[in-house]
Amino acid sequence: MRRSTAQSGRQRSALDAAYDECRRLVRTTRPTEYALMGLMPPAARPACWALYAAFAHADDLLDSSDGTPEERAARLRQWRTALEADLTSGTSDDPIRLALTDAVWHWGLDLGDLLGALEAVQRDGDRQSVATWQEWRERSHAQNISWPEQFMRLLVRCGLPVPVRLRDVPGFTRFVEGLFLADMLRDLPEDLDGGHVWFPTEVLDRFQVAPADLIARRWTPAVRRLIAHLTDEARAWLEGARRVLRGSLPLGPAIVLDTTVDLFTAELDAIIGAGPAALSRPVRVPRHKQWRVLGPARARAAAIWRLTLPPTTATPGGRPAAGPDADTAQSTPEWQPVPVAEPPLPPRPHVDGVRPPEIAPAQLPNHVAIVMDGNGRWATGLGLPRDEGHRAGAVALRDVVQGALEVGLRHLTVYAFSTENWKRSPDEVSKLFAIMRAELLDGELLQHDVRLRWIGSPEGLPDDVVEVLRSQERATRHRTGLTLNVCVNYGGRAELTQAGAALARAALAGDIDPSRVTEQQFAAHLPHHSMPDVDLLWRTSGELRISNFLPWHAHYAELHFTDTPWPEADRRDLWQALETYTQRKRRKGAATETK
Ligand code: IPE
Ligand code: IPE
Ligand code: MG
Repeated sequence: MRRSTAQSGRQRSALDAAYDECRRLVRTTRPTEYALMGLMPPAARPACWALYAAFAHADDLLDSSDGTPEERAARLRQWRTALEADLTSGTSDDPIRLALTDAVWHWGLDLGDLLGALEAVQRDGDRQSVATWQEWRERSHAQNISWPEQFMRLLVRCGLPVPVRLRDVPGFTRFVEGLFLADMLRDLPEDLDGGHVWFPTEVLDRFQVAPADLIARRWTPAVRRLIAHLTDEARAWLEGARRVLRGSLPLGPAIVLDTTVDLFTAELDAIIGAGPAALSRPVRVPRHKQWRVLGPARARAAAIWRLTLPPTTATPGGRPAAGPDADTAQSTPEWQPVPVAEPPLPPRPHVDGVRPPEIAPAQLPNHVAIVMDGNGRWATGLGLPRDEGHRAGAVALRDVVQGALEVGLRHLTVYAFSTENWKRSPDEVSKLFAIMRAELLDGELLQHDVRLRWIGSPEGLPDDVVEVLRSQERATRHRTGLTLNVCVNYGGRAELTQAGAALARAALAGDIDPSRVTEQQFAAHLPHHSMPDVDLLWRTSGELRISNFLPWHAHYAELHFTDTPWPEADRRDLWQALETYTQRKRRKGAATETK
């Protein structure tokens, strides 16, 4: 099944209306969850509304006081069957199902898993009570784990290297249980209206509370103790899970996690503060309290997404540059490489509309090399972990590449990972590779006239990084615009040593005369012999050294050092470097300029 991406105006507006309907439903019935979705990258929010609206709708179908329990269960079964048919056909006449279907196909969500979660909600309709905490937990996992996993999928599609199978991440099931219990306490008045008590019989017995007491809203000391105990449990589970989970998430998702825990904790406080009223009417967190949590979280999330995501996903209304192919999305959960755009797109303009300087081609350096330094210091200076610096550095590189295309540069070489960088912590190294991989898979380069080449050794590199570097080399080998050499696991001396070894082998084989080795012969035995000499070598972040970068090719390069850390650089800094270069007098040992 494949839905055409070129939709008619009418289909488009029906889809917009469907997403709007989901947004309205979530905003009015689940304000806390709605506020949390506002912390997701803007492009992913409509899909979040669709997912949550479907879940909330299924839940509401069961919990409504309309008709007998059997009739409600039948309505949910019908809705789920219709959804399954819609997901196969790719369209729907129901707004929530239409938005969900679109989200599933557009973002490559796992529909088998989603349908399973709905089935678990359905199963709840067929039972009356839950006996033990163990049973309660199983029920909580079956219904609730798939949804946040789909949110993670959205983040992966946005370009963030986050774990998708949250059920395998330590602390996550605890987190879900905390949310489920908090939600149950929050929905208590409604559940009691429908005559349901979903707390395990085990805990009711322990506190000597009969379901009838709760249904009759009797605020006995035992009921008060039970509610206090359950809110304490939910709070402890959420807090405990937060501590464990934080380490597994990059900063953006960690902000969502923190805010979720803070908002649900505020709701638990409000429930305790409400006393007996918590049994009969929905309890709301005072607005000013909610804002104290949400205001700073929004500002932080917006800044992080701006820094760490490609512009299409970091801005409202954007969609990922290209989604996965609908046919493969189901079987291959990983991001599918975007096809090469033919003909390549022109360079993406700078956000401020700045234009490149007019530099005559003869004045331009043929080859610029950059030591992109200072990511770590930039991040620590802002109180962020070092990997956030590497993410921001990747964003800077995207802009610089666009600037190189705009100005007509022929060769650009960037130092992404040196053979000495293995000395860093395994955590930093693995995050760096995850960022690199996500960057390459995102496919922006493939849209432009960029030929990517990887310079460095595969030794020690994760297989998936080697694979993606090679596949991007293959995909872009016919491009004729900018050649972008990415140095990953590169060391200058290792390169020279390899050339030396290759020469020795050639001499032993009698192919060259060792007493007459020329520079040209040496260069021809370098692993990347076709790479031209570097004309301009630029290093950011105030360090005045070469750090084992391109010793052969940069032997006569003009050096340019700037103080700003790499994540703050953009194409304007490249242009500035090029303008500086045009002023240099390159004599290369002669008495006059020989550019
Ligand atoms: C450069 O930034 C990026 C890589 C080496 C991968 P750093 O990570 O070296 O940042 P600083 O120099 O520690 O600030
Ligand atoms: C050089 O930067 C390597 C890269 C930018 C990839 P480093 O930060 O690793 O270099 P030193 O340690 O300051 O020499
Ligand atoms: Mg450094």
